[in-house]
Amino acid sequence: MSPEVKKGILLAPYTTFGIGGAAEYFAVASSEEELTLLAKYAREHNLRVSILGEGSNLLVSDSGVKGLVIKNEIKGITHKAENEKVLVTAGAGEGWDAFVLRTVETGWWGLENLSAIPGTVGATPIQNVGAYGVEVGNLIEEVKVYSLREQKFITMKSDECHFGYRDSIFKSEAGKDLIVVSVTYSLSTAPNPQIHYKDLAEYFSDHTNEPSQKEIRNAVVLIRSKKFPDWRQLGTAGSFFKNPVISTEHYNELTKQYDGLPGYPAGDGTIKVSLGWILDKVCNLRGARTGQVGTYENQSLVLINYGGATAVDVNAFAESVKEEVFKKTKILIEMEPQRW
Ligand code: EPU
Repeated sequence: MSPEVKKGILLAPYTTFGIGGAAEYFAVASSEEELTLLAKYAREHNLRVSILGEGSNLLVSDSGVKGLVIKNEIKGITHKAENEKVLVTAGAGEGWDAFVLRTVETGWWGLENLSAIPGTVGATPIQNVGAYGVEVGNLIEEVKVYSLREQKFITMKSDECHFGYRDSIFKSEAGKDLIVVSVTYSLSTAPNPQIHYKDLAEYFSDHTNEPSQKEIRNAVVLIRSKKFPDWRQLGTAGSFFKNPVISTEHYNELTKQYDGLPGYPAGDGTIKVSLGWILDKVCNLRGARTGQVGTYENQSLVLINYGGATAVDVNAFAESVKEEVFKKTKILIEMEPQRW
């Protein structure tokens, strides 16, 4: 039976920002079969399809979304072990952090640095979620998708997903009709602690032994709790801008003016710079606020909805931040969350 399709459902409560108008049509897909039925419904009614997970990386416009919004709640976790390698497949609608916790408790190494990130499994390949020195794209074996265009399920290998910094084929024109159904991660039972990221290296600096998977998870949870607001209490979509990638010459110019600007080689003579540092130390915008929108007091890359902010308010604030950064650094910054 086809899932119920509702009309005019307000999206704000479905996002961690707590912002956004109504979906013209809205339905929940709890299985692959329900998803195909909803895709058929959209085709027959000529509706554009948008897929919602937990809405944790999303800014929905105040006027809402035309077409059919499908909340992906496809669940299920299976695994296949081969010597030390474990291929773990999770449904796109599984909650990300509960899934990470399960891998940590089972002793499957790989995802522990990505602890405490809000959202679903299905969002991780789209955004190539990364934190504390680990990018999920490097651990993804394959992604099963439903192609709206071809009306069939397809399994894509990691190299077909074109993972980049907060980027993948699923964000491009070529991949926009692909709905993530499940993701297979290549994990390992052999310990492989990744603690080179500054915050983790500092945390474990007085440890004599290699940290366990649980210790790494606990460290990440603690570090994040100090830097990121709890979205249940303060509306947010995490980092609101991407860390910009600039030329080495540009970076060298900037460090003459702004000593200590963190930068990391990003290939082809480019440097990825820490925008949080620029907003904080160069633009003096940490904790800045206009009306109900502002940067977070502990992490300036994070924008906050202090209650009742609209998408227009967020965009206006973001625009002013963008102008200030450009004025001081000649860097053009880009928004990180998805925009509907
Ligand atoms: N910094 C400041 N002031 C600030 C914020 C940052 O000086 O207000 C400095 C920090 O001290 C550090 C540097 O800037 O030297 C980088 O900061 P941080 O380690 O907090 O990471 P980030 O680059 O700001 C990125 C991701 C986060 C991810 C963290 C941890 C992006 C856009 N953001 O933030 O991802 O959790 O690294 O790895 O790449 C997200 O994408 O939504 C997200 C939260």
